[in-house]
Amino acid sequence: MTVFYQVLFSSVLRHMDAERAHQLSFAALRGVAAVPGVAAAVGRVLGPREPELTVHALGREFPGPLGMAAGFDKNAESPHGLAALGFGFVEIGTVTAQPQPGNPKPRLFRLVEDRAIVNRMGFNNEGSALVAERLHHQRSAGRPVLGVNIGKTKVTPEEDAPADYATSARRLAPYADYMVVNVSSPNTPGLRNLQGVEQLRPLLAAVREALAEAGRPELPLLVKIAPDLADEDVDAVADLALAEGLDGIIATNTTVSREGLAASDEEVEAAGAGGLSGAPLKDRSLEVLRRLRSRVGDRVTLVAVGGIETAEDAWARIRAGATLVQGYTGLIYGGPLWPRRVHRGLARLVREAGYASVGDAVGSDAPPPDLTLVGDDVEAAS
Ligand code: FNR
Repeated sequence: MTVFYQVLFSSVLRHMDAERAHQLSFAALRGVAAVPGVAAAVGRVLGPREPELTVHALGREFPGPLGMAAGFDKNAESPHGLAALGFGFVEIGTVTAQPQPGNPKPRLFRLVEDRAIVNRMGFNNEGSALVAERLHHQRSAGRPVLGVNIGKTKVTPEEDAPADYATSARRLAPYADYMVVNVSSPNTPGLRNLQGVEQLRPLLAAVREALAEAGRPELPLLVKIAPDLADEDVDAVADLALAEGLDGIIATNTTVSREGLAASDEEVEAAGAGGLSGAPLKDRSLEVLRRLRSRVGDRVTLVAVGGIETAEDAWARIRAGATLVQGYTGLIYGGPLWPRRVHRGLARLVREAGYASVGDAVGSDAPPPDLTLVGDDVEAAS
């Protein structure tokens, strides 16, 4: 099957427009998953079932630590289909308060030599009212652990961002197992300014209030950050997370950097502006994760994403302090058996290292956090 996917990829998919290939593959998955009983049956074969992969985090039990990253299923069309491929959880979105078409096409490009993708989708999505309605109809016993990732509507001015996020949070809270405030996509003008502590604090307060209004004050709240933040800004987000009692940080989103690529300058230029994901992001994402861990220790749940391709990559993130990991580009180049392969390899690595469960290995490679770095108001620092 892996060989089959490699042949399919190199002979068909890589020659198609990348967004069209995504639409077709996702439509095929949805079609298969819609047949009664099929998603459950496939999930039994591909789903994480090794007991050492079970993770307890964010108040939930995850059957495996590898999740589908945001951006693949923006409108929550088939979280259960993606879970059937073997993901331990699925993050839908980014969803914005108002529906919007995103940027003009083409807006998605592969850099095959680099096992990378450039995208400037621009939060194309059906809006939080419609997505909430869809999730309402999906409520059933078989639903996977579900993260909901929210962002700002493009036409909403930056100063009105808190209300925009709050609207989506209120609508989607009833269906989420955790909620992510995405302030790190490079394709909505001004969005990444919201990572500044002065902007982020009121934004998180507004979202918290919205969750309370929706009757979910306890819903785990996470923030997703960019790999392009300066180290001091990563530290500032970490300190804010501690001070504001955030439940987690997702690191990282795509990068605007084009450094160290194998693709020719012409190819990179032809792809144009947007966020780069996949293998070239690996080192910086791991670096940001390490920096966060050194700052927050185990007091904030860290979710690692960016350039994870193999079980070894996932294992390195876990030992560096990630409780959960996610991937997107790895699935595009690895094919539908990719999540199963990563989970199976990870279970072996956990066993070989002598741990009873993956959770026991979280942060095993990380130096103890320097508690003197954080303010007195942080309870665990005293
Ligand atoms: C993304 N990503 C993303 N992230 C997010 O928070 N909201 C989104 O809407 C999207 N959309 C999106 C579209 C496409 C086509 C790609 C490739 C990626 C970012 C994604 O969740 C992840 O953070 C990065 O892609 C890095 O992980 P990988 O792809 O290197 O595993």
